[in-house]
Amino acid sequence: MNQNDLYKIVAQMMESGKGILAADESDGTAGKRLEMVHLPNEIEHRRAFRELLFTAPGIEEYLSGVILYDSTIRGETKGGVPFADVLAARGIIPGIKVDTGTVPLEGFDGEVVTEGLDGLADRFKEYYTLGARFAKWRAVITIDGDTLPSDECLEINAIMLARYAALAQAAGIVPMVEPEVIFAGNHSLQRAEEVTTRALQILFTKLRMYRVDFKGLILKTSMVLAGDMYKTPSTPEEVADSTLRTLRLGVPHDVGGIVFLSGGQAPKRATENLHAIAKMGKQPWPISSSFSRALEEPVLTAWQGKDGNIEKAQQALLYRTKMNSLAQQGKYNASEDKG
Ligand code: G3H
Repeated sequence: MNQNDLYKIVAQMMESGKGILAADESDGTAGKRLEMVHLPNEIEHRRAFRELLFTAPGIEEYLSGVILYDSTIRGETKGGVPFADVLAARGIIPGIKVDTGTVPLEGFDGEVVTEGLDGLADRFKEYYTLGARFAKWRAVITIDGDTLPSDECLEINAIMLARYAALAQAAGIVPMVEPEVIFAGNHSLQRAEEVTTRALQILFTKLRMYRVDFKGLILKTSMVLAGDMYKTPSTPEEVADSTLRTLRLGVPHDVGGIVFLSGGQAPKRATENLHAIAKMGKQPWPISSSFSRALEEPVLTAWQGKDGNIEKAQQALLYRTKMNSLAQQGKYNASEDKG
C-alpha cells in the first residue's frame, strides 16, 4: 500500500464544496426506489436511472465521488461507456459498496451483523481495475429503548469494519467506514447521542487495534437526531450540537474526513442540518455529505421513468447537490431553497 496515494484520494474526496452521491443501492433496494414512481424493478430502468444521474450536466462542480454497487460498476451507458469511466472522465471518483448486506446476529434479538469478507482481497483487486478508488461497508445499528444496541453487536460489527478497512487500504482503496445508527424509532436525541458516541468509540478502538491508517480513511456516519417517531423532531441547532459533541468524543483527530448519510430525512431537512453543522465552525476533520435518498428522491420524482423528463430530473440533481454544497460551506439559505 502506498499511503500517500490513499491520502491523495481522501483529499480529493473531501474537497470543499463537494459531496459524495451514494448510488450504491443493491438491485433489490433500487427496486424500492423505482416503486416510489411506480416503475417495475427492471434492469433497463435501473440502468437508465443511473445513466441520467452520472451524466447530469454540471454535477462535477458539486460531487467529488459516487458510490456504485457491484452491478452498477459493471454497467454502462446506452452508448456503451462504462459508468466508472463516465464518472472518472468528469473528475468524479468512482467508489464501490463491498459489503453483502446484513444477517441476524444469533442470540441477539433484533440485531444484525454485516457480511462480505469472503474473497474480499480478490474482489478489491478486481474493483481497482474497474476504476474504484474507495469502498463503503455499512453496519446497521438499531436503537430500541435502553436495551438495543448491545455492546456485542457494536463490537462484532466494528471488527468486521476494521477487517474490511485494512484489506481496502492494502489494495490502495480508501475505506469509507459506515456504522449507521438507524433514524427510524421513537428514541430521544439524548439516546441517539449516547448510542452513536459509544458506537464510534468502539469502532475506532477496533480500527486502531487492526492497524487501520486513520488518515487514509473516511467515516460515513449518521447525524445525531431523535428518532422519526419521537414526540418532537430535533431542530438543526440541536442536531449540530449533539452531532459535533459525539464526533469530538468518538472520532480521532487524524481521521481523513467525515461524511453524513441522510438516513431517511427529507432532502431539505438533511441540507438544513448539514448547514447547521457547518455553521459551528472549523473542526479537526473536513466534513461533508454522502446522501442517497436525500439526493435521489427529487430526481426520481422529476423523472418518473420518462425520457422527456430526463433534463428536468438532471436539473433536480444539480439543484440538490448545489444546495448541499452551499450548506457544506455554511453559505446556505433555507428560505431560498425551493426544495
Ligand atoms: O448506506 C447508506 C447510504 O450510503 C446513504 O443512504 O442517505 O439514504 O441514508 P441515505
